Amino acid sequence: MLFNILAPAVGLATLVAGHGAVTSYQIGGTAYPGYEGFSPATSLKTIQFQWPDFNPTMVVTDAKMRCNGGVSADLSATIKAGENVTAIWKQWTHAQGPVMVWMFKCSGAFASCKGDEKGWFKIDQMGMWGTQLNSENWGTAIVLKNLKWSSVIPKNLAPGNYLIRHELLALHQANTPQFYPECAQLVVTGSGSATPPADFLYSIPGYAPQSDPGIMVDIYGSKATTYTCPGGPVWSGFQSS
Ligand SMILES: *[C@@H]1O[C@H](CO)[C@@H](O)[C@H](O)[C@H]1NC(C)=O
Repeated sequence: MLFNILAPAVGLATLVAGHGAVTSYQIGGTAYPGYEGFSPATSLKTIQFQWPDFNPTMVVTDAKMRCNGGVSADLSATIKAGENVTAIWKQWTHAQGPVMVWMFKCSGAFASCKGDEKGWFKIDQMGMWGTQLNSENWGTAIVLKNLKWSSVIPKNLAPGNYLIRHELLALHQANTPQFYPECAQLVVTGSGSATPPADFLYSIPGYAPQSDPGIMVDIYGSKATTYTCPGGPVWSGFQSS
């Protein structure tokens, strides 16, 4: 009897410990602490939207898809277009699935910037290399190994206030996608003037249907030898609207 009562609690603890979230950033040589508690909570002011837990979002239309349930942060980091943003995960456990990094241009102050328009564009992504979905040749396997991911802010990007969103999509469970997105606030500087054309812009949540073959996939049973990330290609910064 005792075991029957204990078993689910142990299972839950393992599950919570097993996933992950972005917990800090390295930007232009400066370390920015991120959110590390479980909101709502009082914690240090950070550049990152507070998020509720390490658990995945399972459905692309869930409101948590945008920034893991977080809302505007108190601080922002300044970065010159062309420099790198490095996201750091305190823990991450899955080796199959893509890494996708998105940005969203705020129309004004961060306090009113919710990312709730069709304005999200990708600046970086890595799906799978090689030909076997059931391998560890995936972007998220690199995060598992290094616990960090570096992306270049497109060098021509127009200056302004932006949200940056790091998304890990774990595909280790057949036809049971797990999304892990977190957001932070960046003031981009520089002399660029480019903004992504409309066909690079997406709404989040809902950037792809749940049935997208990059989302609803059985990596063990699939005969596919290539993988296409959901949500379209990366905007290089050279095409402009
Ligand atoms: C900047 O990010 C790119 C990947 O987008 C990477 O190739 C490069 O090594 C990074 N540079 C630094 C200094 O981290």
